[in-house]
Amino acid sequence: MCGIVAYTGSRPALPVLLSGLKRLEYRGYDSAGIAVETPDAIAIRKAKGKVSELVNLLGENNSLESSTCGIAHTRWATHGPPTTENAHPHAGGKNNIALVHNGIIENHRALRAKLTAAGYTFLSETDTEVLAHLVDSLYQGNLVEAVTTALKEVEGTFGIAAMAHAEPGTLVVARRGSPIVLGLGEKETIVASDASAIIKHTRQAIYLDDNDIAIIKGSEVDIRTLDAGSVSRQTSEIDWSSDAAEKGGYEHYMLKEIFEQPEAICNTLRGRLDSNRGNALLSGLNLSPRELADLHRVLIVGCGTSMNAGLVGEYAIEDFAGVLAEVEQAAEFRYRNPIVNPSDLVVAISQSGETADTLAAVREAIDKGALVSGLVNTVGSTIARETGRGVYLHAGPEISVASTKAFTSQVSVLLMMALKFARSRRMSRESGCQMIREIEAIPGLVQQVLDQNDAIAKVAERYLDQTSTFFIGRGYMYPVALEGALKLKEISYIHAEGYHAAELKHGPIALLEETVPVIALCNDGPGKDKTLGNVAECQARDSRVLGIVTEGDTEAIATVDDHIAVPACPLYTAVVPSTVALQLLSYHIARLKGCAIDQPRNLAKSVTVE
Ligand code: F6R
Repeated sequence: MCGIVAYTGSRPALPVLLSGLKRLEYRGYDSAGIAVETPDAIAIRKAKGKVSELVNLLGENNSLESSTCGIAHTRWATHGPPTTENAHPHAGGKNNIALVHNGIIENHRALRAKLTAAGYTFLSETDTEVLAHLVDSLYQGNLVEAVTTALKEVEGTFGIAAMAHAEPGTLVVARRGSPIVLGLGEKETIVASDASAIIKHTRQAIYLDDNDIAIIKGSEVDIRTLDAGSVSRQTSEIDWSSDAAEKGGYEHYMLKEIFEQPEAICNTLRGRLDSNRGNALLSGLNLSPRELADLHRVLIVGCGTSMNAGLVGEYAIEDFAGVLAEVEQAAEFRYRNPIVNPSDLVVAISQSGETADTLAAVREAIDKGALVSGLVNTVGSTIARETGRGVYLHAGPEISVASTKAFTSQVSVLLMMALKFARSRRMSRESGCQMIREIEAIPGLVQQVLDQNDAIAKVAERYLDQTSTFFIGRGYMYPVALEGALKLKEISYIHAEGYHAAELKHGPIALLEETVPVIALCNDGPGKDKTLGNVAECQARDSRVLGIVTEGDTEAIATVDDHIAVPACPLYTAVVPSTVALQLLSYHIARLKGCAIDQPRNLAKSVTVE
């Protein structure tokens, strides 16, 4: 999704803006641009395609190098196709104002008509240019006043950075719905939509709240709200290492993040399991023993991979705690008017903490009076702040668009939640201790799968040529089938569907033939025999079957055509190593096909529009 970088300070702005844009590339985008102050005017340069195209356009000895204030953007098209004209920054008036914007201005048509009638000419199809002209139309020598008044007229979401030619060195930034973080340097401030663009320069950061507007000049920062005067916002320390945001020698971020999983899961579990009491701590959930005992239902909301993790949570919470649990697509939650009781706990799962659909579900659940908690990776993100209670994943920054380590950390937290809810009800201390041992074994199980990377790459060679694939599983392996299919389709562009193993014969089996392989989760445990029966049905239709099997399970190995073995463990923990096996399989298929693994076409890391 779109990215913002802005700079005001004492050094040349251009290198900071361009390196910030490069850092934001992982978010997904289709054009890029910068605007910097020059003595005569605001200079705007934009290019369709990658940031490298913009760098080429600027050339080596460009005349903009001495400027010490500017704004920059990577755009992911929403209003109008990815063209140079539609790229940001957009100028307001006759280049008096320049502005970059993330989000959507919903009343842009009405505002465009009003501004056209007032004599403004539009060069792009974007809602952002509407905002730039609106600010210009209100500008009377004070940028913050013009932006404040303009934003009051605007319906929709925004994270913006603006500058005015008449106010050199000054930036005005604001947010509603799209994140803005201020990186506080010595004699400078770096603004970005995402902390990864600022950690190279500073670790001191302020995250703006919705409806905050800030005026920044060098290191001077004045934060106000759109409706009232100055407010103070807490400064936090960004605790990622700069290294963590680099590829660390791997060919792709996705592979690096797959290999980081044993460590990421250890970080997720650290300090949260009490082996003496056989319980999980998870103090961030902030639930009193009474609230825990009264819990009527756990409603889990999320999108994509996060929703798939939620399904594992649903199974584990019902299985261990006997508490009613349901998972729901966050996008559907607020539109179908769900029944939510005060004794329900709504758990919103999100790696980014900024997904618009999940955030909307959180707000709906809050309005309906439920207890709402966030299960989020990005510290200080909107969902983390608005839920107020929850559990951070501590998986570290996830740069690759395809989510991997966030999923396995999410599952790890959900298993700890199941343990905590179970212990507050029917599970004995001994059983709690046993469950802790099983959860603590997960990082080692994952490592055993990673050790088979080369063998999995070989298996992948046999699954390159298909155009369609089915993933099947039952019980705890059903969410794994969904997640395996999602991973394969998003990075390799092979059509893939995850199905319950039994559901296949209720329709999709019609599509099976020699060119449509099936990937079957046949882990040893309840339901395995039935899944092996489903495998035989697929083979009878000439489909080649790749089985994820339990190490040493000769029966399963003899049934499937190819296999990847995961270590023996209970099915509820086998979810994690089995998913990792499928992540590696998808990665190698995409790599061998030459796909853009870290930035798949049409996808964005953080989907901040509905
Ligand atoms: C898949 C993927 C997406 C995200 C989804 C939710 O690999 O990355 O399906 O899982 O967009 O994102 P978050 O977890 O940030 O809310």
